Amino acid sequence: MNRSLFLMPALALACGDPAPSPTPEPAVPVGPREVNVYTHRHYDTDKVLFDAFSAKTGITVNVIMADDDEVLERMAQEGVNSPCDVLITADAGRLGLAKSRGLLQASTSKVLQANVPSSLRDPEGYWYGLTMRARVIAYNKEKVEPGSINTYADLTKPQWKGEVLVRSSENVYNQSLLAAMIAHDGPEAAKAWAQGIVKNMARAPQGGDTDQLLALGEGIGTVAIANSYYIGKLMASDEPEKQKAKAIIGVIFPSIGVHGTHVNISGGGVAKHAKHVEEAIALLEFLSSDEAQTGFAEGNKEYPVKPGVAAAKELEAFGSFQRDSLNLEALGRLNADAVKLFDEAGWR
Ligand SMILES: [Fe+2]
Repeated sequence: MNRSLFLMPALALACGDPAPSPTPEPAVPVGPREVNVYTHRHYDTDKVLFDAFSAKTGITVNVIMADDDEVLERMAQEGVNSPCDVLITADAGRLGLAKSRGLLQASTSKVLQANVPSSLRDPEGYWYGLTMRARVIAYNKEKVEPGSINTYADLTKPQWKGEVLVRSSENVYNQSLLAAMIAHDGPEAAKAWAQGIVKNMARAPQGGDTDQLLALGEGIGTVAIANSYYIGKLMASDEPEKQKAKAIIGVIFPSIGVHGTHVNISGGGVAKHAKHVEEAIALLEFLSSDEAQTGFAEGNKEYPVKPGVAAAKELEAFGSFQRDSLNLEALGRLNADAVKLFDEAGWR
């Protein structure tokens, strides 16, 4: 992400803060309403939704983008002077980190509580899930019997030696999956799983989730761990280099033991030092509405968090699944433990 997008002068300009005036101002607020969003999501869908929110409410949305870790760093450095009103990130682990670093404030909203299932939002209202993704197993339909895999643990069986494709443990999606395993089954079982996957890897971890899917298409490995929206996007793609993978990939929704499929969210929370709290909550409420949930689903192939809103047809084709109902607050809380266990297991 371009660091220059984060320059303060541009933001100050966007905010249009008036210069201090010697004469007393009337108490009634005047001027345009606005909300400043810090995000590391860079999807066209988000821009479309922000524009729709502005058109509906008259509230201008100023978007500041940065890398995932950079965005929290920036807020921490700015402290009380931070112009950020809403923080949006992918992964509940990172939102949990933002909460524990004191970068968010609790907010209550009946709309958000009704639209976002309780396991997909912070119990104290510091953040709310806005889109959901499942961490699933993509498999080569020509070589794998789908009934042979029901759990993530099944991938550690000897039959999958040299067959498993997965990205680096430095990635937060893997860290959150392992954190969920720690939460359910304890650190020993989680570490054993990580060691079992390392033993069965088709190659040393490289690239992102889409690269694992493309590797399946090239015949490197037969099973891959990936987030659902990458598969949805692959299935919707006309790009020639993606067609081989598209043709042979099936999807399994594995369970953590009996607990269901690991899910994660992109979500948002009101910044600790927000100057536009009302507008911030209004934006989060809008993003949880039917209209925005459908936009996320169709535009970015993410699962809606709001019950009753349909997923994209590319994902519906793979069937439904039972999601793990673990409160995602655990992902942030156990992130450091997960990183340590990956290290011990030799998953680079
Ligand atoms: Fe992603």
